[in-house]
Amino acid sequence: MKLNNELIEKSVPLLVVLTFLVISVGGLVEIVPLFFQHSTTQPVSGVKPYDPVRLAGRDIYVREGCYVCHSQMIRPFRAETERYGHYSVAGEFVYDRPFQWGSRRIGPDLARVGGRYSDSWQKAHLLNPRSVVPESNMPAFSWLDRPVKADGIETRMEVLRTLGSPYTDEEIAGAGAALTGKTELDVLVAYLQGLGTAIPGSEPPLAGGAGDGRQ
Ligand code: HEC
Repeated sequence: MKLNNELIEKSVPLLVVLTFLVISVGGLVEIVPLFFQHSTTQPVSGVKPYDPVRLAGRDIYVREGCYVCHSQMIRPFRAETERYGHYSVAGEFVYDRPFQWGSRRIGPDLARVGGRYSDSWQKAHLLNPRSVVPESNMPAFSWLDRPVKADGIETRMEVLRTLGSPYTDEEIAGAGAALTGKTELDVLVAYLQGLGTAIPGSEPPLAGGAGDGRQ
């Protein structure tokens, strides 16, 4: 029996098995090299593992589901780079576990929002977005002005260390103390202010104040 087109097209199980094989091999050829390429596995210079404050802020970002409305992934198209700054590169995300690329933009991309606004703007905006952007439809996160829970931060850093974040023992031991006296708002804003700042010259050229039609 010859394995020709006719045979494959008339036998559903054979077609399924061969299709599966082709897709698997194609997928592996695309995906496996990414685990070994320098450009996808090494941090770009300036990217550091999250310090305890920003790490706690990142956890709040995840808890509150900010990623549901905000992406952190600037695509290499002119419309995106003119608005948000340098497109995102893989080496910026090596310490992001899990990454916050998101898949939906109800609000603007946040990959390079760090330094775009002052801390006080960010705090006012989170507590009540309409106080600084009157037309905003972002929900208010009014409960964030409460002390951040410090317990467990050392364990989280230890886990991240096993996954590749190069924390020293001293950094982990001092993590809880770094959070004392801080509110959830403080740490979330610290996280936001660090976003995308590792690549020099990546400030969005169109940075503007509140209500500049940034949708
Ligand atoms: C239901 C969707 C939604 C959710 C959830 C949401 N946002 Fe927004 N966000 C928006 C929209 C819409 C805007 C644009 C209007 C504005 O500036 O308020 C925005 C704007 C922003 C901006 C200003 C960005 C810029 O470049 O001007 C920041 C920072 C921000 N959001 C942070 C957050 C954080 C942090 C969270 C989670 C605590 C969050 N957002 C949750 C919809 C959302």
